[in-house]
Amino acid sequence: AVAERFKPCTVAILSDDKVFPLYGKTVTDSLEAAGFKTVAHVIPNGEQSKTLDNVTAFIDCMVKAQVTRTDMVLALGGGVVGDMAGFAAAIYLRGIPYIQVPTTLLAAVDSSVGGKTAVDISAGKNLVGAFHQPALVYLDTENLKTLDPSVLRDGFAEVIKYGIILDSKLFDTVATPNSFDLTKVIARCIEIKRDVVEQDEFDKGLRGLLNFGHTFGH
Ligand code: GLY
Repeated sequence: AVAERFKPCTVAILSDDKVFPLYGKTVTDSLEAAGFKTVAHVIPNGEQSKTLDNVTAFIDCMVKAQVTRTDMVLALGGGVVGDMAGFAAAIYLRGIPYIQVPTTLLAAVDSSVGGKTAVDISAGKNLVGAFHQPALVYLDTENLKTLDPSVLRDGFAEVIKYGIILDSKLFDTVATPNSFDLTKVIARCIEIKRDVVEQDEFDKGLRGLLNFGHTFGH
């Protein structure tokens, strides 16, 4: 999918220590087989990693690998990795392209789409960031089958959110467990998010709807 859209270049992968051992080799091998060079930076899994210091460490890794503006960042992981990789891509050399490869349901239906990137600082969550749209979001729904049930439930909160804010049919669809096609449900969530983001990319009004439940959830 990457080779179909981008010329061979260096791909700086950001991932975490839960996801990279599972999918890192597959991703790097397939990129290298398609003519891309790869460099990977792995952070500890979890929200506590979403810091400016960790973004700086990833940027140092890109500097060492001589990543240029014609190269790319690839986020392999959930929301934390996606937000950080997107933010690093937004500020490195004043902005380089990035690809989101979400590996959690939450990242698939919400954080990988729409271009919000950020890190947490001591004053609060997501207080430093940028709007920077990914060049590609690539989701393999097979990966979601191996998710811990608690992580899957975490993502379903976002699916239910879309149902409550904008699509009562979607809400009814997911109300009966195991009665629906997850891929179709994900596609519908992304469609809803796309429609909202197209109208209010920079979060001045309507996009606030997508934060329904977020403060409580966080
Ligand atoms: N996660 C909410 C938004 O992208 O606006």
